[in-house]
Amino acid sequence: MFSPHQNTSSIWQEINPPIYPSLDQNIKTDVCVVGAGIVGVTTAYILLKQGFSVTLLDKDTFGQNETGLTSGHLSNVLDEGYTKLIELHGLEKARQAYQSHTDALELIQKIVNEESIICDLHWLDGYLFENPKQGTDFLEQEMQSLKEVGFQDFELLESPGLFPNCGRAIRYGHQGRIHLLKYLRGLLAAIERMGGRIYMNTRVEKFEEGDSVHVISSAGFAVQAAHVAVCTNVPINNRVQIHSKEASYRSYCIAVDIPPETFPDILLWDCAEPYHYVRKIPSLTKGLDCLLVGGEDHRVGLQSLTEDPYETLHTWLSDKLGIRGEIAQKWSGQIIEPMDGLAYIGKNPGNKNIYICSGDSGHGITHGHIAAMIIRDGIQGRKSPWEKLYSPDRLNFKASGDFLKENLSTAYQYLDLLKLPAEQKSVRDIQPDEGCLVRQGLEPMAVYRDHEGEFHVLSAICPHAGGVVHWNQQEGTWDCPCHGSRFAGTGEVLHGPALEPLEKESLEIIKKEKDERITPVW
Ligand code: FES
Repeated sequence: MFSPHQNTSSIWQEINPPIYPSLDQNIKTDVCVVGAGIVGVTTAYILLKQGFSVTLLDKDTFGQNETGLTSGHLSNVLDEGYTKLIELHGLEKARQAYQSHTDALELIQKIVNEESIICDLHWLDGYLFENPKQGTDFLEQEMQSLKEVGFQDFELLESPGLFPNCGRAIRYGHQGRIHLLKYLRGLLAAIERMGGRIYMNTRVEKFEEGDSVHVISSAGFAVQAAHVAVCTNVPINNRVQIHSKEASYRSYCIAVDIPPETFPDILLWDCAEPYHYVRKIPSLTKGLDCLLVGGEDHRVGLQSLTEDPYETLHTWLSDKLGIRGEIAQKWSGQIIEPMDGLAYIGKNPGNKNIYICSGDSGHGITHGHIAAMIIRDGIQGRKSPWEKLYSPDRLNFKASGDFLKENLSTAYQYLDLLKLPAEQKSVRDIQPDEGCLVRQGLEPMAVYRDHEGEFHVLSAICPHAGGVVHWNQQEGTWDCPCHGSRFAGTGEVLHGPALEPLEKESLEIIKKEKDERITPVW
């Protein structure tokens, strides 16, 4: 398995990963980029092209972060829809949003051409299918908004004739698909060729800003840089301000083997809650097409204990599209939803020379390229045309209803601390590869039994800001519903904003006080 931390891995992660050393010295550089996913690697590449010296750090090895768990869709049709974006931001800014994502698509094509990267980039039509629950005029409104923002190449199809159960749809031209890890591997090769330094398995623990910024690794080595770009999906340098404007979701994906030509070569998505998307990778193996089916998103840490989201996707594929096939692979990833539909990109509030990118929703690839352009302009002292639109400082009061709802939901997670015990259960009832939350006195404990049967007892209190982690049986991880931090069963940090692992506790205490009886509370 490619990732040592999750139970699942994506089809993209099957490629040969390039290997990079970890940071073992202090170094000086113009720009230090933290995070070697799509945002960080594109930013490093673009800055090297402008003549800056760049050092790129990542806590994992190649392809293990969220970029390796993508669906690989390329689109300038934003998740919120242009009607909602006009409502939230006004027409001029909605136009800028469209233009910036369109420019990002063009930049990807340009880079692929210039670097001759073989990454299965392909342009095709996308179809948004109507959700009858949204009312009959939803698509008409969206058509009007597309006209107003200047969208190119779209049409309303009363009966697209693709799938009998799907109804009306909007067709969008020039959408795309890509093998993102092949693209990333090509970019990393270009970065090395241009003299960029790349260090992996290098966890950053601290940022010290003075005239320059010192980025300190957990091994105690420092990168001294004039500018820093923190491209870690959620910013590990900003403990509160950005996280209170975002919500973290788990999103699921299955790869299903189907006979060739069973599914047209399109992107398809719906407006259901939770939503679904589909696309194929033609003739991937054994003469079969591979269909990617994704969605069924939910807030991190709040998954159903009884439903299997992968099976739900599989059933949806069969019921809605009439397509059946074996699940060849399944995986899940993290989606960070901003409050107003657009990512937070630019200078981190309160810092002079530290930039961030976060909240890139289901558009991590285009938001990543937009971030690279905005950060490049900022470091070069130029004003980006999109600086205000994506400013991390912004507070959109028109989105405050959703903002309040999400934050109440976050606040509600802290009430987990007050919940009463349910039933008694023996420690031995916890199965191998299973976790269980228990209470010892007033303390919630996270107990994980590994595949060899050994118990790992941890504090269930998230070190980021005190939320209570929940067990994720699909991935074998502890997930925090408050701001989306995730931890291995044994407590190591997999996904920020937490920087420290779950604190180790002792099983002996439970044994002594409860005579091997423990109290699961969730
Ligand atoms: Fe913020 Fe857990 S991620 S409290």
